[in-house]
Amino acid sequence: MPRYLVTGCAGFIGSTLTDSLLADGCEIVGVDAFTDYYDRAAKEAALRDARDRSSFTLLEHDLATGPLPADALEGLDGVFHMAARPGVRASWGAGFEAYVSDNILATHAVADAAGARGLRLVFASSSSIYGDALAYPTPEDTPPSPISPYGVTKLACEHLLNAHARDSGLEHVALRYFTVYGPRQRPDMAFTRLVAALVSGSEFEIYGDGSQSRDFTFVADAVAATIAAMRDAPVGATYNVGGGSEAALRDVVALVEQLAGRPLNIRYGERAAGDVKRTLADTARIRAELKWEPRTDLRVGLAAQLDAAGALAASAG
Ligand code: UGA
Repeated sequence: MPRYLVTGCAGFIGSTLTDSLLADGCEIVGVDAFTDYYDRAAKEAALRDARDRSSFTLLEHDLATGPLPADALEGLDGVFHMAARPGVRASWGAGFEAYVSDNILATHAVADAAGARGLRLVFASSSSIYGDALAYPTPEDTPPSPISPYGVTKLACEHLLNAHARDSGLEHVALRYFTVYGPRQRPDMAFTRLVAALVSGSEFEIYGDGSQSRDFTFVADAVAATIAAMRDAPVGATYNVGGGSEAALRDVVALVEQLAGRPLNIRYGERAAGDVKRTLADTARIRAELKWEPRTDLRVGLAAQLDAAGALAASAG
């Protein structure tokens, strides 16, 4: 059975990927630094199932501060590099230093380790590298133009991997995920906050007028694309991973209210710096080359996230 390293194994996408690979019979060495970006308890909860399996080994390690122990890299078939300091809004100001460290320095270290051992590396990039994109739907060859410091670090990581590929022959694949959601979504992200507001009756603040739209991607679809990239992608490929469910935030609020059968307490605030107006992936390349397509539409995926949080009304369908 294949043995993989998953960095960021306690995070939202990383833990879901880890569970899926373990269920497929893979052996996983999981690495996580448990950074302070959000509560450790949420990450421990996300790892609960994985920790029950003898095929899972957890290594608490900060990739930005030192190389991985050699034995963690032994016998691997590939590396899923999901570890990152995520989120657009916290990357301004003094927060940026941690983005440079957790994204650029950490990716450099992982690329060194993978390149030296001839290991394929699948990298979690982001739709935020496009900024307010020059074309919609946005194909991968659209000139990148990030408008947040976070997006700049993700684009830098893509370039860094290309540089490593030239130097060491590193085999890498970059996946540009478009706003991933579903059970275990990070606490700073819109849907988790919507669900929390629903459960507690507290306010959900919409940044701006709610007309911003996203190509929302259900986490199981993102994970399926990630595994397909490790198995089948040509060396050096870059793919958009978009769920095909574009919706304005305002419409998402209405859908959540409909699914839950009760109204949300909404407040409109300032637009957030670095927040793009719209995302919409052109997924023709990944559909053709990896035979991947999103399977979960927004209504079904949102219902799953609400259900996981115990926020779905008995009558909802
Ligand atoms: C998300 C992730 O946070 C990034 O890590 C990721 O790289 C990016 O997707 C991507 O796929 O490129 P974002 O689209 O901002 O970024 O996702 P959310 O945090 O779920 O926000 C969605 C929209 O809701 C944004 O317009 C945001 O401003 C808004 N929002 C978010 C609110 O109005 N209120 C909130 O409390 C949170």
